[in-house]
Amino acid sequence: MRQVQDQASKLRHAAATTTNGFRTIAITSGKGGVGKTSLAVNLGLLMAGNGQRVALLDGDMGLANVDVLLGMTPKFTLRHVVEGQKELTEIMLRGPNGLYVIPASRGVEAMAHLPVAGRARLLGRLEQLEGLIDILLIDTAAGISPNVLSLILAADEAIVVTVPEPTAITDAYAIIKVLSRHRADLRAGILMNMVEGVSQAEEVFDQLRRIIRHFLKLEVRFTGHVLRDECVGRAVCEQKPFSVCFPYARASRSLHELAKSLAAPSQFAPHPEPFWGRMIHLAAQL
Ligand SMILES: Nc1ncnc2c1ncn2[C@@H]1O[C@H](COP(=O)(O)OP(=O)(O)OP(=O)(O)O)[C@@H](O)[C@H]1O
Ligand SMILES: [Mg+2]
Repeated sequence: MRQVQDQASKLRHAAATTTNGFRTIAITSGKGGVGKTSLAVNLGLLMAGNGQRVALLDGDMGLANVDVLLGMTPKFTLRHVVEGQKELTEIMLRGPNGLYVIPASRGVEAMAHLPVAGRARLLGRLEQLEGLIDILLIDTAAGISPNVLSLILAADEAIVVTVPEPTAITDAYAIIKVLSRHRADLRAGILMNMVEGVSQAEEVFDQLRRIIRHFLKLEVRFTGHVLRDECVGRAVCEQKPFSVCFPYARASRSLHELAKSLAAPSQFAPHPEPFWGRMIHLAAQL
């Protein structure tokens, strides 16, 4: 027991490398449907299971999915926070392994296109998470809407998910291009999903990295890979996370590796400005 507590406290210390007291990681993609939400939910659960205090914010504010994958039915969502009816801490739910879930609303178009003031208000509230969590994972919508861009740019680092198909790869390049225009020191990693093996993942990553290096003069990292696995779809249908339903499935095992590597101190230097400060600053620009 003592050993587990020591391990948890070490992990917390390792993760707390940002000026917020918690590290923010945005999980995003250029193309839709590449597995962001599935991976964000299961990664959050595995990291929480490893002893880290993790919150998962559903940043797909028009078409929320995190609650669906966890089989949750939230009464209050980010919409109530934006409208000033609830505090962020009042809408948070507790999922398996103690994962904090910050749910979004579904089918509310205004939430997908928040005005500057709404974005600033919402993200300003994240200050309330200080002391409560070590890591904030943000599952974003696909694409380059101001909502999405401001979330990614304000985070300490971005994980761009792609699959090894030309359309997804070109869209991953496109979103990194847009992001790098706003932030030359973008801290981005590529997560290859639905691959057949590590060699395919590394091969595709290498090509993408070369193009990004050549045209954008930017270095991206290889965050990891998750194998294509029919268990992922089966778990979605049961509204249960695949890492819980099928802990020994191919996809779960790949994600375990990723959860462990993300628990190590960030490869990136801490960001000098806290998340909400950056967010408010950026919200005004986009
Ligand atoms: N490793 C995998 N193996 C097999 N299927 C997968 C894998 N990862 C995700 N999927 C499937 O891909 C589909 C899309 O997943 P998901 O909804 O997580 O993507 P998304 O990027 O969040 O989509 P959106 O852009 O619409 O938010 C789902 O049907 C899911 O089951
Ligand atoms: Mg999604």
